[in-house]
Amino acid sequence: MYKINTNYQKLPGSYLFSTIAKKVAAFSEANPDKNVIRLGIGDVTQPLAPAVIEALHQAVDEMGKAETFRGYAPDLGYEFLRNAIVENDYKPRGCDIGADEVFVSDGAKSDSANIQELFDVENKIAVCDPVYPVYVDSNVMSGRTGTYDPQKGTWSDVIYMPCTMENGFVPEFPKEAPDMIYLCLPNNPTGTTITKSQLQEWVDYANRVGAVIIYDAAYEAYISESDVAHSIYECEGAKTCAIELKSYSKNAGFTGVRLGYTVVPKELKCGDVSLNGMWARRHGTKFNGAPYIVQRAGEATYSPEGKAQLKEQVAYYMKNASAIKQGLQDAGYTVFGGVNAPYIWLKTPGSMTSWEFFDDLLERANVVGTPGSGFGPSGEGYFRLTAFGTWENTLAALERIRKL
Ligand SMILES: Cc1ncc(COP(=O)(O)O)c(C=O)c1O
Repeated sequence: MYKINTNYQKLPGSYLFSTIAKKVAAFSEANPDKNVIRLGIGDVTQPLAPAVIEALHQAVDEMGKAETFRGYAPDLGYEFLRNAIVENDYKPRGCDIGADEVFVSDGAKSDSANIQELFDVENKIAVCDPVYPVYVDSNVMSGRTGTYDPQKGTWSDVIYMPCTMENGFVPEFPKEAPDMIYLCLPNNPTGTTITKSQLQEWVDYANRVGAVIIYDAAYEAYISESDVAHSIYECEGAKTCAIELKSYSKNAGFTGVRLGYTVVPKELKCGDVSLNGMWARRHGTKFNGAPYIVQRAGEATYSPEGKAQLKEQVAYYMKNASAIKQGLQDAGYTVFGGVNAPYIWLKTPGSMTSWEFFDDLLERANVVGTPGSGFGPSGEGYFRLTAFGTWENTLAALERIRKL
């Protein structure tokens, strides 16, 4: 008789966004006349940029001709894309990253969930609290997190680093030294970030205690302040302690197109074992590449036209972010984020829990957001709104919230 991976049974409840979807579906069914505005899930609404569409069309045509047809992509991704990444995302920021340290993938969700495979099951992980749920859940599936305390909503073998208004959403070094540290900056869900010098302290800390940082930079394109690092490799010593994850979902609207990459520097070694070699082995065995047409679309994001068009797209969402932030502040809410990230993190009014506020907002304003407690215990009493809606919906939602 076969046995299952019982770690899956340890996972509590359903995924946060499935719960929200079910609640919204039930509300819409009971109130078919109500126009629900969704500012919950972090999905984009603007169409792909013209430069990207053009590249996709061209690549599709190439696939239709024998001379230019492509089959399986190279293991690490096409060189044209990896070179464009190095030339545009790293060189201008003074980061010495080689194309053979870049692994093209189908997005940051899978990479952020899969990267833990490289590490021993006894390793202790540290996560910010609140946190993007994938980091913890993927470690639960591998049996790295101990037992779950449903009362507290925490795992016995996970080190939680609370990020709240009290510490300005800046994680503090944990008392117990972790082996693997997940950092997502700018942060989902809080929409806040840390300065480059604060990040440097984390890099120094990781090198000192012998930890690896898994650095999720999915929202890097939204950084507007000059003292914030766009890549962890802007910090000295990061190549010996950090893996960086990037995504085209939020900077280029590729949530349905699927493209991302992970950087594993050659200098990142455990003893004399190269993690770059391990990830190459893993990639070669378990992944067959992002589609050629999608990698061409990714390349187009770096063309002069592509860059200009995406800058506009990011500005569109950040205009929403500013409007939400200002509007909520004017209405008396305590609001964070929205300056270097497309998320607004607000304090729920009075003593309302995150889910109470969710229900209230859905019932009375017909607006969907995300309860902060869904991201971890320190998210209780907070609520996330995304700036990824349309301008019109953002203004309409704001108006309804103001009237509450
Ligand atoms: C922090 C973070 N990392 C990764 C992802 C997933 O990115 P991708 O669409 O590239 O899988 C998201 C998506 O919401 C995210 O918020």
